Amino acid sequence: MIELVNVRKRFSDDSEWITDGVTLSIPEGQTTCIIGKSGEGKSVLLKQIIGLIKPTSGSILIDGVDITKLDEAELKHVFKKVGYVFQFAALLDSLTVFENVGLPLLEKGIPKEEVLPIVKEKLTLVNLSPEQTMDKYPSEISGGMKKRVGLARTLIVNPKIILYDEPTTGLDPITTRIIHELMFNTQKKLGITAIVISHDVEIFKYVDHVALLNERKIQFFGDAKTIWETDNPYVHQFIRGLTNGPIQTERTKEDAPKRKRPSWR
Ligand SMILES: Nc1ncnc2c1ncn2[C@@H]1O[C@H](COP(=O)(O)OP(=O)(O)OP(=O)(O)O)[C@@H](O)[C@H]1O
Ligand SMILES: [Mg+2]
Repeated sequence: MIELVNVRKRFSDDSEWITDGVTLSIPEGQTTCIIGKSGEGKSVLLKQIIGLIKPTSGSILIDGVDITKLDEAELKHVFKKVGYVFQFAALLDSLTVFENVGLPLLEKGIPKEEVLPIVKEKLTLVNLSPEQTMDKYPSEISGGMKKRVGLARTLIVNPKIILYDEPTTGLDPITTRIIHELMFNTQKKLGITAIVISHDVEIFKYVDHVALLNERKIQFFGDAKTIWETDNPYVHQFIRGLTNGPIQTERTKEDAPKRKRPSWR
């Protein structure tokens, strides 16, 4: 469904390559997590997948269509089925939660009475009480709630693909876990293809695949369930450098006997 073929990107003729030959197939209906050092080009890669940035060369195929060859009108059509969750929820402060979530539909001229049940459904899907949140303004809700409202807004257009750029950065461990479970559950429930950039090793429990972007290329693509046992030297070093180990949650406790822990834990 999403296929990157030899994607190279630099911002000008005399600047360094950000990515130099990224080839990656994103499995359909599953979640792929992209990891990599700060500044390696993960966000730039994601922005190329949604057409915000054009690659210098290479192809990006979405459902077989090379989006690098499309003009703006054609791109808009392709991206009707793609949702993008920004690092900071990017809600409009002057609009209520109802208006923020329903915006894509309200903008199309769909009457408020018709939008209301859809907004309620999406807010419920992200574990927010519609009655308690709909009339509030973004300044009146917490950071974790804002992220959930941002996700509800993305879901309102029934996307087939969702891209998340660091959805939990800056959140406490409990809210992080809630967001991870939410992403996992919505993806499984709706069969969405998802790509998530994260610096949080907790996320490996909730995703299917992990891709490591390092030194301008994808150096590793593999199963998230066995990521702690991989002998790929880049991954081995990178995930251990991120943390002192996965946080114990109900999920990891259940999994514990089956999972081989790093020797230093
Ligand atoms: N619009 C732009 N113009 C010029 N250079 C850019 C632009 N956007 C990003 N870059 C450069 O591209 C490189 C990769 O940036 P990017 O934001 O993709 O990193 P990242 O892997 O997402 O890092 P982080 O983990 O810190 O978010 C950086 O050196 C950055 O300065
Ligand atoms: Mg980034």
